[in-house]
Amino acid sequence: MQHEKSIKNEIGICVIGAGRAGMIHAANFAKNVPGARLAAIADPNPNALEAAREQLGAPGCAAYRSHLDALADGGVDAYVVVAPTKFHREIVVALAGAGKHVLCEKPMAMTPGECDEMTAAAEKAGVVLQIGFMRRFDAGFARAKEIVASGEIGDVVMIRSNTRGPSEPQPWMYDIKASNGPLAEVNSHDIDTLRWFAESEFETVYALGGNFRSPAAKRDYPDFYDNVVVAAGFENGVQGMMDGAQGVGYAYDARAEVLGTKGCVLIGRTESDAVVTYTAASKRGVYPLVSSWRQLFREAYLAEDTAFVEAIRRGQPPKVTGHDGKMAVKVVNAGNLSIREKRVVRLSEISDL
Ligand SMILES: NC(=O)c1ccc[n+]([C@@H]2O[C@H](COP(=O)([O-])OP(=O)(O)OC[C@H]3O[C@@H](n4cnc5c(N)ncnc54)[C@H](O)[C@@H]3O)[C@@H](O)[C@H]2O)c1
Repeated sequence: MQHEKSIKNEIGICVIGAGRAGMIHAANFAKNVPGARLAAIADPNPNALEAAREQLGAPGCAAYRSHLDALADGGVDAYVVVAPTKFHREIVVALAGAGKHVLCEKPMAMTPGECDEMTAAAEKAGVVLQIGFMRRFDAGFARAKEIVASGEIGDVVMIRSNTRGPSEPQPWMYDIKASNGPLAEVNSHDIDTLRWFAESEFETVYALGGNFRSPAAKRDYPDFYDNVVVAAGFENGVQGMMDGAQGVGYAYDARAEVLGTKGCVLIGRTESDAVVTYTAASKRGVYPLVSSWRQLFREAYLAEDTAFVEAIRRGQPPKVTGHDGKMAVKVVNAGNLSIREKRVVRLSEISDL
């Protein structure tokens, strides 16, 4: 990676896509990321742009209708791509190809081949391309990684990870061919967690999907699943388990577990804070539950954004690379094939194209 020829005092950031996740990054860069400032936002939807500007209250923040317009803004040094996944390849290739640093949200793209194009564009231009697996920046996940690395639980035997969201899936997710389904949108993080702790690549996956809570999708999208379980084997022999669910209602529930030869580490929580309420009516303690990923991973998103700026400043590779993004997409594609064909799929069957 090339060093920046001249690092400005503040790195100007443009957020592409002012939706749910885009606004988390935009709010971070508007106020809380040292050495960076929110220079612009881009979104084709004028209502989203207007709402974002009002919410952010960031004077001097430019607004554009497309990433290409934002590319012409000399005050922008780096971009955070938070548009819907199917646009990631086109936008990232254009930005990195123009010599701009990019933090791209997960899932990196729709196919491993698209990921390769994005990585190639960034490598050719010598720019940072970081992928948005922010759990690696979460204090709990990072601490667990240290504990496992210390050898305290012996050798890693099995990693289990789940992500269950309270809200119903967006209708655009129903078409698995267009969205890559919940394995992509929900479980990309679990896939990355398993790879990170296994320190190896997935070798086999067996996935089962079922639609239990989304009756609206049943007739037109019989392939749609809102619940998925996956058993996996890694090249180094480590075993993996994941589950994903949408519309569970009770909380945003993201937890993981690493089982070793001498112990076990549990990561994550469903309680929103340390307060427990005891009432005469319930005769038991009641924990307020985490209702959103925004709340559970607030600090992790900030640490991720801060690390992106650090990687640019130091001219160092990012902590989460295009290779990490690509391997997760490959597992998503293998999982969806496994669900369709009801069989174990080897990762070597998944084409890079
Ligand atoms: N890291 C995480 O935990 C996390 C959480 C949520 C979403 N995401 C990812 O972030 C991306 C966006 O998801 P979301 O939930 O914020 O979606 P969203 O629908 O809330 O927002 C997407 C925004 O992008 C805009 N948009 C559409 N086409 C665009 C284009 N060509 N260029 C720029 N903007 C465009 C839309 O108008 C909309 O405002 C997805 O890839 C999703 O998987 C990651």
